[in-house]
Amino acid sequence: MLKDNFHRTIDYMRISVTDRCNLRCVYCVPSGGLKPLEHREILQYEEIVRILRIAVNTGVRKVRITGGEPLVRKNIAYLIRMIKRIEGIDELSMTTNGILLEKYAEELADAGLDRVNISLDSLKPERYREITRCGDIDAVLRGIDASEKAGLMPVKINMVPIRGLNDEEIAEFAKITLKSPYQVRFIEFMPFGKEDMWNKEHFISSEEIKSIVEQIGDLIPAKMRKSGPARYFRFDGAAGVVGFISPISNHFCKECNRLRLTADGKLRPCLFSETEIDLKPALRNNSSDTEIERLIELSIAVKPKSHSVKIENLLSPADCSAMNTVRNTHKRPMSQIGG
Ligand code: GTP
Ligand code: 5AD
Ligand code: SF4
Repeated sequence: MLKDNFHRTIDYMRISVTDRCNLRCVYCVPSGGLKPLEHREILQYEEIVRILRIAVNTGVRKVRITGGEPLVRKNIAYLIRMIKRIEGIDELSMTTNGILLEKYAEELADAGLDRVNISLDSLKPERYREITRCGDIDAVLRGIDASEKAGLMPVKINMVPIRGLNDEEIAEFAKITLKSPYQVRFIEFMPFGKEDMWNKEHFISSEEIKSIVEQIGDLIPAKMRKSGPARYFRFDGAAGVVGFISPISNHFCKECNRLRLTADGKLRPCLFSETEIDLKPALRNNSSDTEIERLIELSIAVKPKSHSVKIENLLSPADCSAMNTVRNTHKRPMSQIGG
């Protein structure tokens, strides 16, 4: 297993298979839309599989398929089936908005997908449509159901609370865990995307989210097989658990075990850093596996110790407009990195 320069084992690769999405969430996609990558810029399935076969040599054991929305890419079950066959990959999961899960859950499970994380930011049909600019919440709810039936367990639901947009629903989301065996996770809103949708005033810390959840009842720390950055709790006697992911208020960089592969073939060692290592030229110029392995090792070697985003250092909307900038946000929108 390869360790990086800060003694972290890097065994998790998040692979974005497309930058396209069938939703246009207000905090992810600018109102004018995004220019999609051209077909030839996107890695082919065979290229992704080759990268993963090589990455297993450097210690990658866990894989997550992301997007944009991964289920809009044609024949995604074929990719799942090929990845599942790679010796050394122990866990294969997907992060999806759930719209197409009703249609694909069984096929994905059959192809070897272990589980899914579903993004859902409102339980109210109208608000869901407003946040996603077009989504039908019933499709997502049917998708969650279908995932459970297909055995894609545990189902994890990711909610990003945003002040003034959906924060009044935090308690409702947490209540889902009383009866359903799901993991409902609250993710702190991170500064991505070009638009000024992200600003300090919209941010809610995990501490504040947790205090809202605790109004329902006491939370008991839940012992889980440690996998991601979430801290988990449960209500007494509840079927599921609630989790808090705090990339801004409580950096989990010390435990970070991941590399990201963008849809256009760039290895991104840190979500918050613009540093990317382009694998595509090597893949398309007949480079050897050894050369590609060297590039993967390079991206592990340049993985930064931590990111430096701190809420107290971020600019207010007034500061931004005074400086005629939206400097808080990162260049690539989340849909091009894969969360
Ligand atoms: P599991 O807990 O194993 O299911 O995986 P996960 O939490 O890594 O998967 P998921 O895609 O559901 O991640 C949830 C969200 O947490 C992501 O979409 C990001 O918003 C955030 N997140 C995940 N990994 C990182 C990371 O390395 N850095 C930061 N800052 N945020 C991350
Ligand atoms: N901050 C936090 N989470 C985000 N996601 C997308 N953009 C942001 C952001 N700015 C989440 C989605 C989904 C995952 C892929 O990333 O809600 O759960
Ligand atoms: Fe699509 Fe996810 Fe971005 Fe929403 S947050 S537009 S579902 S990629």
